[in-house]
Amino acid sequence: MGIDLNFDANREKVGEENGVAVWGPVDPPERLGVHGTHVAVDYDACVADGACLEDCPVDVFTWVDTPGHPESDRKVEPTREDQCIDCMLCVDICPVDAIDVDASRQ
Ligand code: F3S
Ligand code: F3S
Repeated sequence: MGIDLNFDANREKVGEENGVAVWGPVDPPERLGVHGTHVAVDYDACVADGACLEDCPVDVFTWVDTPGHPESDRKVEPTREDQCIDCMLCVDICPVDAIDVDASRQ
């Protein structure tokens, strides 16, 4: 299942990691929530395909290790989401629809 496009309404912000908001619920290492706000990655959907990180024209994403997660042992953190130019490439290329981008989301 891909990212919930209304995650900011349906989830609570539970903290921050690597300067990026985390939307719960979280229960590590199995459940890691959604990371980011303008550029949001559902960590529980991400399978570490990596196309988003390789192809983002402004290098928004950084790998982080997530040992013990059932889908993959690393994920992409949108550490530079403030640089996003809303090209939607990452949204379109992710094979599991783990990313949503919305500049109006706070
Ligand atoms: Fe990068 Fe475009 Fe996504 S700028 S974060 S690939 S919307
Ligand atoms: Fe993960 Fe999709 Fe990127 S699986 S690494 S968010 S292309």
